Amino acid sequence: MVMYDLIEKKKKGLALDKEEIEYVVNGYTKGEIPDYQMSAFLMTVWFQGMNKEETYELTMSMMRSGDVLDLSNINGVKVDKHSTGGVGDKTTLILGPIVASLGIPVAKLSGRGLGHTGGTIDKLESIPGFKTSVDSEAFVDQINSIYMAVAGQTANLAPADKKIYALRDVTATVDNLSLIASSIMSKKLASGADAIVLDVKCGNGAFMKDEESAISLAKEMVEIGKSAGKNITALVTDMNEPLGRYVGNSLEVYEAIMCLRGEGDERLMEVSKSLAAHMVVLAGKAKNVTEALVMVEETVNNGSAMKKLVEFVTMQGGDAGYIIDPSLLPKGEIVVEYRAKQNGFIEKIQTELVGKACLCLGGGRRTKEDVIDPGVGLYLNKKIGEYVEAGQTIATIYASDMKKAEESLIILEEAYTLANKKIDGTNKIIKCVI
Ligand code: URA
Repeated sequence: MVMYDLIEKKKKGLALDKEEIEYVVNGYTKGEIPDYQMSAFLMTVWFQGMNKEETYELTMSMMRSGDVLDLSNINGVKVDKHSTGGVGDKTTLILGPIVASLGIPVAKLSGRGLGHTGGTIDKLESIPGFKTSVDSEAFVDQINSIYMAVAGQTANLAPADKKIYALRDVTATVDNLSLIASSIMSKKLASGADAIVLDVKCGNGAFMKDEESAISLAKEMVEIGKSAGKNITALVTDMNEPLGRYVGNSLEVYEAIMCLRGEGDERLMEVSKSLAAHMVVLAGKAKNVTEALVMVEETVNNGSAMKKLVEFVTMQGGDAGYIIDPSLLPKGEIVVEYRAKQNGFIEKIQTELVGKACLCLGGGRRTKEDVIDPGVGLYLNKKIGEYVEAGQTIATIYASDMKKAEESLIILEEAYTLANKKIDGTNKIIKCVI
């Protein structure tokens, strides 16, 4: 096979077969196909698209490029959840203990945050002592013992995707449905779970800005998952404002704990419970989502989910004292309030800017090498549809450096828009794709 011919074939809009796709993926991963040819190939895919079979084969080739976790030694149906990324998304910390407390094994490999979105691993590492590098044997043992483990993705999970994604990032070829779906699903399938619930975020803080494209992505990923023999569902959920009221690593752990105590933000809880209920159904522990939701409510109300969180944190080396008394968690000591200049209703929040306001405090990374400041972040006193009077606080900044707090304040001022009329809040479930 010759790479030039495959670029030419795709340029003409013809479909590639399994062997041809495997040749491209393996050749590029091994360094035998140069960046300039792979860039041309990705651009032809961007313009011509890929059909369902090609997208599936691309996913499977990228999955096979590295380790595929073997979870067969874990008893029961192993479930996983994946979010396409947003701001304030701490649902894993809430639904993980909920689902595990119902005796369902939750096997989760998570990533770190990069840019304006956060990552579960960074959030967990803000709990003093918590270890996210767990070898595969300990991972399996822990799930068999307490039904839940969360570990950082190893470097050898779908390495082809890592290399191709880096090239897409600099060749304007990220925003293609087949490329996004195969990139996400190659990592999910390599993570080894039997059942997967996808949370496809939609809105101004997400990859997919409108409902139509988010639903298309959800459908594409569900089809790939089914073809690979997985039990899979996708929920499309709103990301036109941050999820919940806290943004920042330890602040989000704090909010997740409040949710498990039954004192959390209503919409954050609604999204977390829905995702958890779908995991329960896929695991075969409930006949339908309505029945699963009753189980989810009960495990939160009777304190079992909260107990599971304490057990999980302890098992991974974290100091459970911080979970039992979350006021001890790190919190930026410099407090700056963003106050309203006029009366009005919150009309719009540019979610990506809220993520950037946290990033500039040190709550995220601009490059992979940046070190996170775990206690910094934001509390959103006001969200969409809420009324604020001139002088009242719209958002509170927790910082460890005054200059960074001032920079964050400028970004927040740009992120919020006020209006005279009330509009409905967001953060709802938009659609379920089965
Ligand atoms: N997340 C991924 O892992 N890959 C993409 O292509 C987009 C989002």
